[in-house]
Amino acid sequence: MSEISFVTPKCRYPGGDDKIFGANARANQKSGEIGFENVINATVGALLNDDGSLSVMKSAMNHFRSLPDAEISAYAPIAGLPEFRDAAIKACFGDYRPDAHIEAVATPGGSGAIRNTIWNYSDPGDAILTSDWYWGPYDTQSTVNGRRLETYKLFNDSDEFNIDAFREKSAELVETQDRLVILLNSPAHNPTGYSLTDKEWESVMGTINKLAENPDKRIVLFADIAYIDFAGDGSSRGFMKLFGSLPENVLVIVAYSMSKAFTLYGLRSGAMICVSSNKYATEEFFNSCQVANRGTWSNGTRGAQKLLADVYADENLKAEIEWERAYYKTLLEERATSFQKASKEAGLETCPYRHGFFVAIPCDKPNEVAEELENRNIYAVALQKGLRFAVCSVSKDKCAKAPKIIKDAIITVESRKWKVESGKWKEKD
Ligand SMILES: Cc1ncc(COP(=O)(O)O)c(C=O)c1O
Repeated sequence: MSEISFVTPKCRYPGGDDKIFGANARANQKSGEIGFENVINATVGALLNDDGSLSVMKSAMNHFRSLPDAEISAYAPIAGLPEFRDAAIKACFGDYRPDAHIEAVATPGGSGAIRNTIWNYSDPGDAILTSDWYWGPYDTQSTVNGRRLETYKLFNDSDEFNIDAFREKSAELVETQDRLVILLNSPAHNPTGYSLTDKEWESVMGTINKLAENPDKRIVLFADIAYIDFAGDGSSRGFMKLFGSLPENVLVIVAYSMSKAFTLYGLRSGAMICVSSNKYATEEFFNSCQVANRGTWSNGTRGAQKLLADVYADENLKAEIEWERAYYKTLLEERATSFQKASKEAGLETCPYRHGFFVAIPCDKPNEVAEELENRNIYAVALQKGLRFAVCSVSKDKCAKAPKIIKDAIITVESRKWKVESGKWKEKD
C-alpha cells in the first residue's frame, strides 16, 4: 500500500521519540534491569527526590486540593482571573517592580508566553534571537510558527555573557527586520545554569536602547525567568528595575511560570507580563494576547490561577509555600555544588554555572558521548554543543560520581578520532 500524506508540507515532521523523553525511557528501563541505585538518570527537567520520585510541594498541592470544586472545574476568563493577574505581577517582580506601565495575561506556563510573543510580535519568516546554548523548544516554537531561530555565542573567552556577540548579532538582524524578538533566559539558564550579573543586564539593556535609536524599529525583549525562584535570594530580581523608563519602541515581556516555582508542571499555568513606557503598548498587548489565547488554547487552568491568587491574599499560606520551596532550593544547590566540586576534581569542563536545574558540559560529538555514557549507565541529554546534565533530578551522591565517568566517556570518544600511522598519532580523515 502506498503512503498517503495529508499533513501540509510546512507542518510535516519526522516521527520518533522526543530526545529527552526517549533517553528518560531508556534510563527507566535500565533501572528496572539493574536497579535504580546503579543508574544515573540526568535527563528529567524537574526536581526529583533522591529515590527518583517527583518532588511535589505539599503546601501548594494541599491548597489546590482544598479549593471548591467549582473553582477547579469552571473556565477562567480568557485573560486569566483578575486577582491571578495581580498576583502574577507581584510574584514576578517581588520588590523590584519596574517603574512603567504593566499588564499581565494568563498563559499555559512560560511556553504559552513564548508562543504568543513570537506570534504577536514578529513577522512570518523573521529571525528570533537567542544564545547558542538554548532550550530546544525555542527552536520548535520559532519553526512551527513560521519563524526561524538565530543565535549569538553565549559566552566570551572569560566565560562571561558575550555582550559583543549579542550586540553584533542583534544589530545585524535589526538592519533587515522591522521587529526583533529576543529570547533571554536568565537567571538559571537552561541548559547551562548561567545567570547574568546585574552589570551584564545593564549592558544588555544598553545594547537594546541602542538598537531602538531608530524609532521605526520595534525591539521586544522576552525575559524568560522560568527558574527564578531557584536562583539566589530575592535580590536576583534586581535587574528587573532596569525594565523601567525604556524607550517607547522597546517592549519587555516577562514570562512568569508556576511550573517550577510551585512544582505544578502539569497544571500548565503562568503569565506573560508586559512592561512598557507607553500605555497604549500595554493595552494593545492585553487585547492582542487575549485574542491569541482565544485563538489557540482558549482559557488557562482556573484552579492554578486561584491558587496563586490565594497565596498573595494569605500571608500564612505564602510563608508556608516559601518555606517548603527553600527546602527544595537547598537540595538543588547541594546537588549542583557536589557536581561542580567533582567536575573540578575530574578535570571536567562545564559551562559557567551559577544557579538552576541544569549543568552543561561542552564537548565534541555529543550524541556519541551520550551513547558512550549510556553504556556506563549514565543518561544525559545530547545537545548541539554538548551535554545537559539535570542536577535537579539526581541525588547529591550520584552528582559526585558522575563527572569522572563523563570525563572518561569524553576521552573515549575523543580517542576514536586518532590512529597510529608510521609510529605517530594522526587524526583520522
Ligand atoms: C528555559 C525554559 N523556559 C520556559 C519553560 C517553560 O515551562 P512551562 O511552560 O512549564 O512554564 C521551561 C521549562 O522547562 C524552560 O526550561
